[in-house]
Amino acid sequence: MPNPSLLILPGDGIGPEVMAEVRRIIDWFGAKRGIAFDVSEDLVGGCAYDKHGTPLHDDTMARAQEVDAVLLGAVGGPQYDSLDFSVKPERGLLRLRKEMDLYANLRPAQCFDALADFSSLKKNVVAGLDIMIVRELTSGIYFGEPRGIIREGNERIGINTQRYTESEIARVARSAFELARKRSNRVCSMEKANVMESGVLWREVVTEVHQAEYSDVELSHMYADAGAMQLTRWPKQFDVIVTDNLFGDLLSDLAAMLTGSLGMLPSASLGAPMANGRPKALYEPVHGSAPDIAGQGKANPIACILSFAMALRYSFDLGDEAARVEKAVEQVLADGLRTADLMGPEGGTPVSTTGMGDAVLAALDASL
Ligand code: NAD
Ligand code: IPM
Ligand code: MN
Repeated sequence: MPNPSLLILPGDGIGPEVMAEVRRIIDWFGAKRGIAFDVSEDLVGGCAYDKHGTPLHDDTMARAQEVDAVLLGAVGGPQYDSLDFSVKPERGLLRLRKEMDLYANLRPAQCFDALADFSSLKKNVVAGLDIMIVRELTSGIYFGEPRGIIREGNERIGINTQRYTESEIARVARSAFELARKRSNRVCSMEKANVMESGVLWREVVTEVHQAEYSDVELSHMYADAGAMQLTRWPKQFDVIVTDNLFGDLLSDLAAMLTGSLGMLPSASLGAPMANGRPKALYEPVHGSAPDIAGQGKANPIACILSFAMALRYSFDLGDEAARVEKAVEQVLADGLRTADLMGPEGGTPVSTTGMGDAVLAALDASL
């Protein structure tokens, strides 16, 4: 059997910095656990544009379709802000999601005990939090047509279209119900059925899928604006949240702050199973390229490290090894190690990106 294959796309800004720590953990698994990966690396985002004039070269796209899993750092940066929309760094990531058909974006938000004091919310609101946002990732207003900026008379008009088919809603709903069955068996679906037809259809289809296939799971519905409020009021009421592409983008950044920092939140973007039975998959932190701290060794690598843990669990059926990585992260946080984004009034031991990677590796060694 050949080793499982990984395509690593570090991207821009802090992407390469946090991914360097993941590379060390991948090497650790080869050396210490006999779990070796066939790793290749390529460009995505602004760095791909700089080299090829496109944020995702066709060869990279083809490679992404072949491998067992893709790991991505982050894309984007202010130096690319004035580029034509079609070649912006973010388009590279959106192309990967669309062409790999990665419709279910799993964004877990867990509050580690050591950080419960650090969240901007009260400790009792976030302590022990463990929720999963399932964001639809290949459709909705991100991809709907018509789109663009047109001119009518003396005015420019910006247009984007929210569009969802029944089957797009049904498949992401199934992903959410399946996940709920392995967790606390509850799904809350969020849309704005009060003002959007696409929200009305969303609610209907989720309800139909629930009644036909998942009536053992508890289902509730909430308007997404109220959902945002409830997420900050009492987030522990939720188990799995399923929502569309745009609401999922917003709600997952919000959920990040329940855990203490955007630098903590991993994600898995999953599609249909490939011939080998593994889902098409891309793993990436929820955060972006953080231009304000890039190149300074300040970035928190934990979101990217936990994204690799999700790859172990969802692509390689190595749930125990994923838990080993998660426990190592828990340990270093309990030991008080803090990158700058996690440094609050209660203090801690300041560490750089590499320092955090060193500590996670040491905790992994200690787990043997
Ligand atoms: P961002 O997530 O890059 O940064 C928001 C804030 O969080 C910044 O203050 C940043 O320093 C901080 N932060 C983020 N990740 C961190 C980490 N790992 N450690 C410590 N602090 C961290 O969002 P933004 O500033 O709105 O966007 C910057 C660029 O990133 C834009 O070009 C945007 O399009 C892009 N972006 C890319 C992705 C992605 O690649 N998946 C996601 C979001 C934004
Ligand atoms: C995310 C990001 C992306 C999104 C951008 C960079 C395309 O914000 O992954 O959350 O909007 O989906
Ligand atoms: Mn986002």
